[in-house]
Amino acid sequence: MTVDLSVSWLGMTMPNPLYNASGVMCRSVEELERVRLSAAGAVITKSCTLDPREGNPEPRYASTPLGSINSMGLPNAGYRYYFDYARRYPHHAGKPLFLSLSGLSLEDNLTMLEALAVEQLPCLPEINLSCPNVPGKPQLAYDFAATAIALAEISRAWHGPFGVKLPPYFDPVHFVEMAHVLGGYAGLRFITCINSIGNGLVIDVERESTVIRPKQGLGGLGGDYVLPTALANVREFARLLPEKHVIGCGGIRSGKEAFMHILAGATAVQVGTCLHEEGEGAFERILGELTDIMRAKGYHRLEDFRGRLKVC
Ligand code: SIN
Repeated sequence: MTVDLSVSWLGMTMPNPLYNASGVMCRSVEELERVRLSAAGAVITKSCTLDPREGNPEPRYASTPLGSINSMGLPNAGYRYYFDYARRYPHHAGKPLFLSLSGLSLEDNLTMLEALAVEQLPCLPEINLSCPNVPGKPQLAYDFAATAIALAEISRAWHGPFGVKLPPYFDPVHFVEMAHVLGGYAGLRFITCINSIGNGLVIDVERESTVIRPKQGLGGLGGDYVLPTALANVREFARLLPEKHVIGCGGIRSGKEAFMHILAGATAVQVGTCLHEEGEGAFERILGELTDIMRAKGYHRLEDFRGRLKVC
């Protein structure tokens, strides 16, 4: 039985729904090229700021038995570097390029979007409203009024389609309130759910110590810890905002979790912790496993089950 993993959305077709989560394998051109030349269906750059940043002090990433904790602090080469990559990117080769923008202020995000608009680079901005790791900077998308102001300004500066990367929400009232905010902006075409679960604390009992240094050891959780929360956010935003696309991110380490995200309503899915641990070979493995699941269930295309999660 033939299985077609392609995804057509926003006027483009990806060969399959899998790509890297921003933050993993995307800080340098060398890393980005590893993703592009892998089995991934798209590429996204590291969340960038106006100027290059070193990020937080090491150690700032740790693997744990259930996933990962990080407080990277947006180490990146500055937006000009990623725009330069986008200029040279083979856009017509069939793997879309997403640019993750994470200005330290709304003005910074507007500056980057205005520069992108002038250049007319054929890539899609994913605006990161949810980095938990810059000391002194709260996650913007936990402030609904500030998010509405940001989206209004962004919509004035950028007339093409764009997306936002959201933090996880945990309360039904917050899903509804944030969906109400997001629903007001037609240019906002996709929502990436979720960023890491911010400000967790992992403790090494032997050393009686935190496992990362920044923020007194607090950091964003990824991997198995976050899968049910990610799925809840994907399902709720897909349900509340059927006119927008939801990109699933969180806890995908095999075809099974990719299947779950798509069943919950995701158009495409990003891989973070697993990609960090395993390298770009993870894409081919996960795609093979997803194909096997679809074949066993008699599904030919992703549309055959996307968003069709039943409530028992
Ligand atoms: C980081 O660089 O701290 C991670 C980015 C993010 O979580 O948004």
